[in-house]
Amino acid sequence: MTTALITGASSGIGAIYARRLAARGNDLVLVARATDRLNALASELRAAHGVSIEVITADLIDATQLELVLRRLRSDPPIDILVNNAGAGLIGDFVTADPAEMHKLLLLNVAAPTLLASAAVGGMVERGGGSIVNIASVLAFLPEYSRGIYAATKSYVMTLSQSLAAEVTAKGVYVQAVLPAATRTEIYERSGGDISKVPDVMEVEDLVDAALVGFDRKELVTIPPVPDVAAWEAFEQARGFLAQGFSNSKPAVRYRNET
Ligand SMILES: NC(=O)c1ccc[n+]([C@@H]2O[C@H](COP(=O)([O-])OP(=O)(O)OC[C@H]3O[C@@H](n4cnc5c(N)ncnc54)[C@H](OP(=O)(O)O)[C@@H]3O)[C@@H](O)[C@H]2O)c1
Repeated sequence: MTTALITGASSGIGAIYARRLAARGNDLVLVARATDRLNALASELRAAHGVSIEVITADLIDATQLELVLRRLRSDPPIDILVNNAGAGLIGDFVTADPAEMHKLLLLNVAAPTLLASAAVGGMVERGGGSIVNIASVLAFLPEYSRGIYAATKSYVMTLSQSLAAEVTAKGVYVQAVLPAATRTEIYERSGGDISKVPDVMEVEDLVDAALVGFDRKELVTIPPVPDVAAWEAFEQARGFLAQGFSNSKPAVRYRNET
């Protein structure tokens, strides 16, 4: 029996992860602020799948409440799968954004998944197994399409996943970055947007089912809407080609002052 801890399980992508992982026979720890919604989901999934479900009410922006989740990740029964999903958007430009709101977004989208992964990974390495799933966004690669700092927070999640995977894959820990594009959840309305104005919206069940196919294949990066994996492979090749230029002790000729 494995146990999965899912943040942001009260709605959207996290709630579907909870449904799918319970249906696969995992025990769950559900985390979010909306206790009523978490308890309703927990009752439904216990009855449907006979799994054990804990609920932790926590605002991950609040250090004391985040600590409750960190403590659970370090305790028993061990957490085999961490789904770092809780997140939010922030409508508006960088120039006009309220710095206090930006700070909250950084705590939720950047600091929380980092500290949660940190709390989970030590035990996973000791046990020689475990999975960390980080929900990033295609905006990590398309920052020009999104104003403010949201894309930058998701780029961080993507980069963290890559560097963490480089460190722990050989120790038996699997890391997956999932990059949804527009997906039908509450995130738009919550951040003052309007989903009816967004083209090509994926249904959340389709998104999570595809992400779980990538999970079962142990993909490092899963981008459900991209039709041809060759596009990702070409992107990675281009990155490798660029990186060949990093190991030079002298600046490139084009940056040398003409004498
Ligand atoms: N939907 C998309 O188009 C899309 C695209 C790319 C990436 N994503 C990413 O997908 C992830 C899930 O979002 P979603 O689309 O499923 O949106 P959602 O329906 O709004 O779900 C967000 C979840 O995060 C929780 N949450 C928000 N603030 C929190 C806080 N301070 N502390 C603890 N939990 C908090 C919410 O629960 P409570 O309110 O109960 O706390 C909710 O369960 C996010 O990381 C988002 O950036 C979404």
